[in-house]
Amino acid sequence: MKKLIIANWKVNPSTYREAERLALEVSRFAKKNKRAEIVLCPPFVYVSSVKSHVSRTAKVGAQDCFWESKGPFTGEVSPAMLKNSGVDYVILGHSERRRWLGETDEMVNKKVLAALKAGLKVILCVGEPQRMAKGKEQRARGAKTYVRRQLEKNLRSVDNLPLALRSLLTIAYEPVWAISTSGTGKIDTPEDAAEMARFIKNLLVAKPYTLNPRILYGGSVNARDIKSYLDMEYIDGVLVGGASIKAEEFKKIVEIANKSNQHGNGTI
Ligand code: PGA
Repeated sequence: MKKLIIANWKVNPSTYREAERLALEVSRFAKKNKRAEIVLCPPFVYVSSVKSHVSRTAKVGAQDCFWESKGPFTGEVSPAMLKNSGVDYVILGHSERRRWLGETDEMVNKKVLAALKAGLKVILCVGEPQRMAKGKEQRARGAKTYVRRQLEKNLRSVDNLPLALRSLLTIAYEPVWAISTSGTGKIDTPEDAAEMARFIKNLLVAKPYTLNPRILYGGSVNARDIKSYLDMEYIDGVLVGGASIKAEEFKKIVEIANKSNQHGNGTI
């Protein structure tokens, strides 16, 4: 299975020109590296332009969407609008939205349901806010409890959707403390990240979800470390923030993902 590489541009770059240039550079490079699935997630205003530059080489995603399809919700963008603009993926529940914009589990749940119903591929971000208690065992247990609760709340009623729609779900495990700009910038170890990925897969394969979603790792991923994550069983790709807007760094990431041995999607 192809490794999935999500580029979360966040609120970057500042101009249309720069966005165009970055999309073009990645697109040219992606053409030669077709064994990795690349998804560029620019700010809404650049979506159409990025889409036109990468239509044959990469996919386009949005960084958020609203749960209603239309109406008096100033500033929001609906899942149907994204779908109709050629967007394939949407990132939901990113920790920066939860933290800075007060997004609750309930809101994330409504967004997940609405986006899946519209046929968008959802990348749901989950992860514990702080490095948990001392001691490896205890830390892993604390983090798993947090992530399990978050998944239960964010995926409420997803089991009522037809399998074809709930299969559009991908989970990004992003320990908040490991995110380069909003966390401590310390990266999780590939072993711990893979153990969490195994845990999540195990949870979602069972009832009521009965899913086998791709699991990504995110948090300070760069060209130097990416291979050690992609080599791990149960890690099917990565969500890249800061490094995705540096063209040269991101190209290296794509190249490594392209060569990566095709582990991942480990079965439970
Ligand atoms: P980072 O961001 O790669 O800069 O840590 C990841 C993210 O916020 O999704």
